[in-house]
Amino acid sequence: MSEKGWSQLWLDYASKAGKDSVNGIRMGNVNVDIKDFDVDNRVIESAVKELNRAFCGDNDKVKVTLVRNKEVAKEGYRIGNIIGGSNENVAKSDAPEYVIEASDENGALYGVFHLIREKLMGKEYPNICADCAPSNPLRMMNHWDNMDGSIERGYSGRSFFFVGDEIVVNERTVDYARFMASVGINGVVINNVNVKWAATDLITTRFFDKVKELSDIFGDYGIKLYLSLNFASPIELGGLPICDPLDKDVINWWKDKIKEVYDHLPDLGGFLVKADSEGRPGPFTYGRTQADGANMLGDIIAQYGGIIIWRCFVYNCTQDWRDTKTDRARAGYDYFKGLDGEYHDNVILQIKNGPMDFQIREPISPLLGGLTKTNQMLEVQIAQEYTGHQIDVCYLIPMFKEILGFKTYCRDDLDTVADVISGRTMGNKYAGMAAVINTGNDYNWTGNDLAAANLYGFGRLAFNTELSSEEIAREWVRLTFDLEQDLEDKLVDMLLRSREIYEKYTSPLGIGWMVTPSDHYGPSVDGYEYSRWGTYHRADHLGLGVDRTDKGTGYAQQYYSPNAEMYNDPKTCPENLLLFFHHIPYTWKLASGQSLIQYIYDSHFEGCAEAEELAETWKEFEGKVSDRTYACVSERFGRQVYNAREWRDQVNSYFYRKSGISDEKGRTIY
Ligand code: GCU
Repeated sequence: MSEKGWSQLWLDYASKAGKDSVNGIRMGNVNVDIKDFDVDNRVIESAVKELNRAFCGDNDKVKVTLVRNKEVAKEGYRIGNIIGGSNENVAKSDAPEYVIEASDENGALYGVFHLIREKLMGKEYPNICADCAPSNPLRMMNHWDNMDGSIERGYSGRSFFFVGDEIVVNERTVDYARFMASVGINGVVINNVNVKWAATDLITTRFFDKVKELSDIFGDYGIKLYLSLNFASPIELGGLPICDPLDKDVINWWKDKIKEVYDHLPDLGGFLVKADSEGRPGPFTYGRTQADGANMLGDIIAQYGGIIIWRCFVYNCTQDWRDTKTDRARAGYDYFKGLDGEYHDNVILQIKNGPMDFQIREPISPLLGGLTKTNQMLEVQIAQEYTGHQIDVCYLIPMFKEILGFKTYCRDDLDTVADVISGRTMGNKYAGMAAVINTGNDYNWTGNDLAAANLYGFGRLAFNTELSSEEIAREWVRLTFDLEQDLEDKLVDMLLRSREIYEKYTSPLGIGWMVTPSDHYGPSVDGYEYSRWGTYHRADHLGLGVDRTDKGTGYAQQYYSPNAEMYNDPKTCPENLLLFFHHIPYTWKLASGQSLIQYIYDSHFEGCAEAEELAETWKEFEGKVSDRTYACVSERFGRQVYNAREWRDQVNSYFYRKSGISDEKGRTIY
């Protein structure tokens, strides 16, 4: 257990290594040599510090040489035992010598973390070697922390950045930066996209000094700090009557403001903006486009090297969708596709993975790759807003892998989402991945200890989109715990199955949204909060699902061919998205031969039984993980099982009553 009051997550060197560890990891004692890097550079200093922290054992000596090599890719690294094509130095040395080559300091730091990771996982000299370059230039975490200390969609306690409208900087901040750098994160937005209350003042003298302190700590670990921006700041801070992005006074106000910000925060990465959505102000108020808003800020911030990350989560939550063509899922594409090519070079559009909102199963947003002349990055959510609030176990990396692997058909090659958002498809300078983060000030950072697999996993995946879900899960388990092989395998298996299990006991076949309104945990079949115009799922006594074909809302036509045709036809539509795209009769036969209604019953019984089984398996970990972890996860499994039963019973009885069709297996439906 960490004495600090917070866990050391996957960097808990002291408890992993040593004679008493199950896996007998010996880290040894390090001697660091630095060639062609400035020894006083703050990132290099952090790298050296980390080596000294990790290699804290006695006896065995290890030598690590950090070498600058201009040929290595930006932020990439090579690890080997050979310098300049000769292994002379290694041969002469009596200690194992690792050589980490990088062209920049971030690369050197990531190389150090790679070496530490491999050592902690039990790899030994001379088998540790690597040649890695990050898949994505931007690898970001988005905090939805409010300045009063609350966290929007936070399930792990309160903010560790903000307490009572003040910024907190302490040792935990440093550990946070270390954790993020250890998985390759290079950008962090510290405040909620809904910029409320004191957060508007983050760009004023009231907070500059403290934000600078945070930014400096991040900078030590190669991370740029970003701020979410209130688009209405000219009104709220500047006293102007409007915030029209084309108004001269408004533009001048921003010019002065952004200059002032960069005078105080020279390392700031830029701003993240949520505009015209869910009550946020934006360019639409003044009849302007999203490009007008983003470009105005982009042009001003360009001279400081900053970027504007503009979110595409723009929709009208009060729209009347009784007209069958009106569909929230269409909104992103409808608003942004027409402006493709109009965004300036330092503006990047941040697109949620699906067209709705982080459901357990959604199609991939057609904007990804739909835009061909615009910088774009993918936004996912590791805060489990709709996926169990970090009470239920839901390892999300398999979902992210599906997203990245999706073929958009935006051109003949290099057309997967991974290609598009890495910048390689269209040659974008700014591109990448962002996650709405799942941390808070809980001892274990993520509420449920097992939810840290998503925190770790997102970073690793954003750095290397080729890693498999299993590789990432195994790394995380091995680094975090000290388990014998069979238990390690069991935990990896539990994680890998968890998303599908969650999906089975919640809303079926991509329909989504059957959660309690606003809170978004627990079942409420009719619970979609914007359901003034009818139920979201459109269930009646004959069937359910939303018709998004060319005869319905037309959403399926937002994809390139052949995806558009595939989704348009219920026979070719992937079954796990059937109800997202189609209104289907309960008697419809699925590929398995089951009817739709029988599938709903079966999957809910199965999903619930599997959640119970996960909880049962966890009991085998008693005494094998720390008591604190065991108790925390056990308590959460208790709640997950309760939740799964509620889902099973509510969903099954709802559709039994609607359809009047009994379960052919004769099980009790409450
Ligand atoms: C969801 C979420 C909100 C959040 C929004 C966003 O709608 O429920 O809390 O503000 O997404 O991504 O901006």
